[in-house]
Amino acid sequence: MFEDFSLFPEAASSYAGDIDAVYIFLIGVTVFFSTLISIALLWCMLRYRRREGHQAQQIEGSLLLELSWSIVPLLICLFVFGWGAKIFYNVLTPPKDAMEFYVTGKQWMWRIQHPTGQREINQLHVPVGEKIVLKMISEDVNHSFWIPAFRVKADVVPGLYSSIWFEATKVGEYHLFCAEYCGTKHSKMGGQVVVMDPSDYQAWLDAEPAGVTPVEAGRLLFENLRCDTCHAAGSGQRGPDLAGRFGRSVTLADGQTMRFDEDYVRESMLEPTRRVSAGFQPVMPTYQGQVNEDQIQKIIAYLKSLEPEVGDAAPER
Ligand code: CUA
Repeated sequence: MFEDFSLFPEAASSYAGDIDAVYIFLIGVTVFFSTLISIALLWCMLRYRRREGHQAQQIEGSLLLELSWSIVPLLICLFVFGWGAKIFYNVLTPPKDAMEFYVTGKQWMWRIQHPTGQREINQLHVPVGEKIVLKMISEDVNHSFWIPAFRVKADVVPGLYSSIWFEATKVGEYHLFCAEYCGTKHSKMGGQVVVMDPSDYQAWLDAEPAGVTPVEAGRLLFENLRCDTCHAAGSGQRGPDLAGRFGRSVTLADGQTMRFDEDYVRESMLEPTRRVSAGFQPVMPTYQGQVNEDQIQKIIAYLKSLEPEVGDAAPER
């Protein structure tokens, strides 16, 4: 809509147009009422200026006027709130079938891993027309991942996963920034997002060394760190069976329930005794210092990929 208007970045994601529409509507409302009020003010200044033989009269309010200048702005605000909330909810809710990329922020670079294993730094190659979700965490300080052309931005902080999703709608190259001041080279912490035709993307993937996929790397780590000693399938183990557990709610030893999600897995590896599953002893050692954020993300990818054992009808134990 505004490709040739340099005040706006290019709009290249599925919801960029929706976000711009709210923004333009707000500007329109502001310009309309500013003009209306300015004209009314000028008109009153001229109409009621001091003249010979004219005496000012006291006015004791007008119900109609007061109701209209209260109710009309209220309705406009509610409309903008509802409209904005709908778009915000859409932007915040990644679709279930999205391709999952992992992003780690670090002074001063973005490290990215594709679902098929390829890695890149300060570059993100994605296919056009595909829903993509980025799972992000920081290894040091607060960063913020920002792609203006997609109208998408989210803080990337240490200790907590954040995610954003988008569907690129136009082949091309777009800027990628860090939008949170994070130290000396903050301004250099950026790069390009390259949106490609699906066939070009596949060719790009084929030309890059894939190494192992995050799921496979997570499986190897799970074995190397000996997680499977306590978390293997079957009952009578020292730790809960983790197959099929991801995304479910678990009961903790203190009776609370919580979702078995990225943040819970991460916390359980670093501070295992903080929230122990019901029915188990707090015997798990910490893996603090033995795993970095990249490795934790891979273990999470592996746990996500695990299907419940056959005949395991009740993973909630
Ligand atoms: Cu990272 Cu600014």
